Amino acid sequence: MILEISVKVPSTPSILSMTEDTFPSIIHNTLGLKNISEIVDWLTNESSVLKLDLSNSGAVLFRGFPILTPEDFDNFSSAFNYGNFTYQESLSNAVRINKTPRVFTANEAPPEVEIFLHHEMAQTPFYPEKIFFCCLSPATEGGATPLCRSDKVYETLNDQHPKWLSKFESLGLKYTTLMPNSDELASGQGRGWRSTLSVQDKNSAEEKLKELNYTWEWQENGSLLATTPPLPATTELSDGKISFFNQIIAAYRGWKTKESMSAPAVTFGNGEHIDEIILNTISNIAERFTTALEWETGDVALVDNKRVMHGRYSFSGPKKREVIVSLAKEI
Ligand code: FE2
Repeated sequence: MILEISVKVPSTPSILSMTEDTFPSIIHNTLGLKNISEIVDWLTNESSVLKLDLSNSGAVLFRGFPILTPEDFDNFSSAFNYGNFTYQESLSNAVRINKTPRVFTANEAPPEVEIFLHHEMAQTPFYPEKIFFCCLSPATEGGATPLCRSDKVYETLNDQHPKWLSKFESLGLKYTTLMPNSDELASGQGRGWRSTLSVQDKNSAEEKLKELNYTWEWQENGSLLATTPPLPATTELSDGKISFFNQIIAAYRGWKTKESMSAPAVTFGNGEHIDEIILNTISNIAERFTTALEWETGDVALVDNKRVMHGRYSFSGPKKREVIVSLAKEI
């Protein structure tokens, strides 16, 4: 259930009283801020309070602010003074299109494709710590963004399946992705290997993979099957809690449909198979801590990528769903 709270005046202490049960917290434009420069002034004054709100709740939704263009959104996200995490330098497997240097499309996967819960880029050694989403236009039907508290998932696994959890923690996870020869828009993970690795040819691709400690196999059609080294399955948060920080649900539920992949999308860090019962149980636990964010035009959501997973429900109808993204790192 989404609980709501309003910002009455600048420097209001009301946000400070919010608890972690408020997820996501919602901040309405009750000040009646009319344009992006008023919004940026307000954000600049309030950024430490807003960041505290984010660390308590894991996700903050800004509703009713006049954010109309990618440029407005760029200014909005810049006001928090995080570092820019660029799509180019990332090893993300999603196909995206830049709108401004720090803003790009969320994912070019077609409407009927559901993108399952994940921590952004947790299947690679480099990931953003914060994600801003902005809805320029909601879908006619569907298209909500599910948000899930992974610290709650961790707590539940610790209570109910401690042996599984300790295996995840001691071995970590390895991910295998198929990077196409060129970008394929008809997939949630269709970014080609040249773009993903920022290289032009196979030799440079292999150099890059060696640096990253990946293993790989070239396919006959020119695509690249790449496997990560063991990556951690959990991470510690600033408040001392642990988050079940990984890409296991999306890899299991979303990537397994790639018929051309000979290797499983995710294994334990030693290459051991993960039982389907475990994967389904984790997926079901995550559902219990998930809220669907139903977008309205102009909404901006700030998500703590280490604490909260996100995804994208499928959508339909004549209206183009336009959700754009900006990724950030702590500096
Ligand atoms: Fe994502």
